[in-house]
Amino acid sequence: MKIKVMAVLLLLTSLTFVSLATASPKHRYDYTSKSCRDLTNPQLEWASRPWGEGGKLFREVCKKCHSRDNSEGAKFLHVESKTSKGWNRVFAQHKVKCAKDGQWESMTLDQQLKLNDYLYRFAAYSQDKNDSA
Ligand code: HEC
Repeated sequence: MKIKVMAVLLLLTSLTFVSLATASPKHRYDYTSKSCRDLTNPQLEWASRPWGEGGKLFREVCKKCHSRDNSEGAKFLHVESKTSKGWNRVFAQHKVKCAKDGQWESMTLDQQLKLNDYLYRFAAYSQDKNDSA
């Protein structure tokens, strides 16, 4: 009896561990360039960090308007405002007001891909809290 309980507990613990270990996204399918971006590639991995090129673009371009109490009529956005899929949709469709108004045109396509990588990687529910990567 005791052994069965132990076995069930062990199974549950290992299942939790497996689901946590796979939580951080390693790849992103990009609908704009129709290619798979390998976020484990050292260059992209670095660029998609909060202090890398993607994170910087978010602060320098997007947060110019989407900060708290801004005067642009833009709502507050942070990286966890959307899920990974949600951010991918924003970039694939370019339907949000500011993208249609040309506010994103100060960025090259390569910069937009890196910004999308960053938002995708650190989006809501995307992070494994036990993984410092
Ligand atoms: C010049 C100001 C400005 C800049 C720069 C800007 N936005 Fe916006 N954005 C707006 C306004 C105004 C709206 C429409 C009101 C709203 O929904 O927040 C909007 C709407 C949005 C929405 C829709 C809101 C929602 O809930 O889905 C998203 C997403 C968005 N912007 C993302 C971005 C991203 C990503 C960047 C950086 C590349 C960016 N914006 C840069 C002004 C801006």
